[in-house]
Amino acid sequence: MVNKASLERLFGRILKEIVPTKREIDDLTEYSNELMGRLKDVMPKDVEIILAGSVARGTQIRGKSDIDIFLLFPKYLEERKMENDAIRLAKKVVSKSRGESYEINYAEHPYLKLRNERRGIYADIVPAFKIRDSSERGSSVDRTQLHNIFVLENLDDRQKNEVRVLKYLLQRHNIYGAESSRHAFSGYLCELLMAHYKSLLALLEGISSSKLPLFIDVKENTELSGPSVPKEEEKRFNSPLIVIDPTDKNRNVAASVSQESISRLVLVARELLSNPSESAFYGFKYSDDKKVSQLSKLIKANGIQLNALCFKLSSISEDTLWPQLEKLKNRIEHEADTNGLNIVLSFSRIESGTGAIAVLYNPQRLGIRKVMGPDVTIRVAADEFIRKHGGPMKIGVEGTKLFALEKPKYADMNDMLSKILSDKRFLFTKDIKKSQCKLYSKDIPVQYALVVYHGLAERLNI
Ligand code: UTP
Ligand code: MN
Repeated sequence: MVNKASLERLFGRILKEIVPTKREIDDLTEYSNELMGRLKDVMPKDVEIILAGSVARGTQIRGKSDIDIFLLFPKYLEERKMENDAIRLAKKVVSKSRGESYEINYAEHPYLKLRNERRGIYADIVPAFKIRDSSERGSSVDRTQLHNIFVLENLDDRQKNEVRVLKYLLQRHNIYGAESSRHAFSGYLCELLMAHYKSLLALLEGISSSKLPLFIDVKENTELSGPSVPKEEEKRFNSPLIVIDPTDKNRNVAASVSQESISRLVLVARELLSNPSESAFYGFKYSDDKKVSQLSKLIKANGIQLNALCFKLSSISEDTLWPQLEKLKNRIEHEADTNGLNIVLSFSRIESGTGAIAVLYNPQRLGIRKVMGPDVTIRVAADEFIRKHGGPMKIGVEGTKLFALEKPKYADMNDMLSKILSDKRFLFTKDIKKSQCKLYSKDIPVQYALVVYHGLAERLNI
């Protein structure tokens, strides 16, 4: 039996910590009005400027809010021209003397990320097309204006506060964020889940007792789970969590939520319901943040080996760097996999300008590999195999099939990683350069070791 009252009290205590202060809200309001005013002065008359995102909807968390300003252009404009005009004009409002700098990022449309050093506020200035419903334009950036209307019409103040608590819960458990590479829950998804379940308690109860896939259509007020989800919907969306966008019935707002993220939420929800406490809410805490020796202890205790590629990252935003680091990690996993090296666990992580890709593995040296070839009767293929693998003491026949002995490309994991670093053909990414990267197997410098330890702690706790 869920102790409803104590869970409500817990949410109340958490909310006090994360609801923005009046001062913060006033600051955000003042600054967003100022920016919108400056934008209005440089934009053509037919561009509508609106405040969107969590600041406009009252679902932002204390100290973490970014201002999302959308520039809505008439939809008859050509897309590239609209984007170019928007960015060119938006750059004009960035004022160095006010402590502002910017960077251009790319989602479905390019957008300008403005940073105000003095105020400690970020503002995304995002161009989009003005639409009345989703049939007019496809991109999710264009739909944001519709999301705004839906959320404002469907959530009351108590529910908005519970969205804040939900977002914070997800943050604490590392499953919050809109960037698709995080495979996590976006702010809008939290808002829709709240609109469907009506309260955080009902949401946690619903999620914790559902089978997957879980299918929710907020607008139609339907919820199906497991085998009762129609096969064609399951196939069409191919996702463990399907939440139909009330502003576009063809879109799953939870499309980028991974199986791991939804599974973690199921576990967190169950734990909170049976044990409504701060410790369940906050999840695992690093016992001693500053102690790097924790890492070597952990490694030793598990009898495992660790390699870490560590990066001093450029000062561009994490939104840009994170997917690149993740991509690089995936390519390293693939290279290990195709060369017979087994990874136990690998992950990438960014923490205040420092990045790391960690690879954990069991000690393993690769010897000669037996490669099976075609049947000797298949002449063309057999000739080709002999040409490729032939040589004294290297090739033989087994039954009617050829086989060859092949030297491994890499002797072990450490060899693979150091070869990758010096191999000109193994490219890194646009903003992550090999020259910024160092490979460690032990004695990882403190600042990197902490990043690796935190990443590991996140993955080996629920
Ligand atoms: P944000 O990522 O800033 O989310 O996107 P948010 O709702 O403001 O939440 P926090 O508090 O900053 O974390 C702003 C808006 O852009 C749309 C959503 O409508 C969102 O509210 N958006 C953003 C998407 O539709 N898809 C995305 O992938 C990202
Ligand atoms: Mn936002």
